[in-house]
Amino acid sequence: MRIDIISCVPRLLESPFSHSILQRAQDKGLVEVVVHDLRDFSTSKSRQVDDYAFGGGAGMVMTIEPIDACISHLKAERDYDEIIYMTPDGERLSQSVSNELSLKGNLIILCGHYKGVDERVREAFVTREISVGDYVLSGGELAAAVLADSIIRLVPGVLSDETSALTDSFQDDLLAPPVYTRPAEYKGMKVPDVLLSGHQKKIEDWRYEQAVERTKARRPDLWKE
Ligand code: ADE
Repeated sequence: MRIDIISCVPRLLESPFSHSILQRAQDKGLVEVVVHDLRDFSTSKSRQVDDYAFGGGAGMVMTIEPIDACISHLKAERDYDEIIYMTPDGERLSQSVSNELSLKGNLIILCGHYKGVDERVREAFVTREISVGDYVLSGGELAAAVLADSIIRLVPGVLSDETSALTDSFQDDLLAPPVYTRPAEYKGMKVPDVLLSGHQKKIEDWRYEQAVERTKARRPDLWKE
């Protein structure tokens, strides 16, 4: 899988993909993440990528020309399954969206800034619009990092223990059960006996019950009988 991220502040995306699981996924050749500086596609001397909004009002709007140039440059190299625009008015990101996108080959993620992009970018190029939640970030970069992280960890082979993504919260509309490690007792606080019993069936049953209880208590909106 390849993910191309288009940003006018590419430095914001240097760190998220350079450590831990996401770096290893790239080292193993399972995914390629390439961040493009939108300003490289600007034709103005000052590398400008925004302009005043027609009709007035506060805030700048990202112009269509450099975005078109960057997307055209990428599309000339390969086909893309989706061109995703990160925006608070997009479809809300969920585990099922990430699962679906993790099965794709090539993705472009466009990060918005200022008041957003010229509407014609959305009409002409964007195939999907995604929000990471009902709050407004300063730009789409952190949202793009969240989206890319949630996708990449689902790509087969990225997590060393394949089952660990399958037992994540949300994977079956249940929150994950509590987990414990050594010591078995810490300052009087004990690990539940069943986890030390070695009885795998009982442990699985306990984990399922805990996941159900947690989901009912914390996220009744997710709970389905
Ligand atoms: N850009 C700014 N806020 C955002 C959000 N909540 N989701 C996606 N992109 C954004």
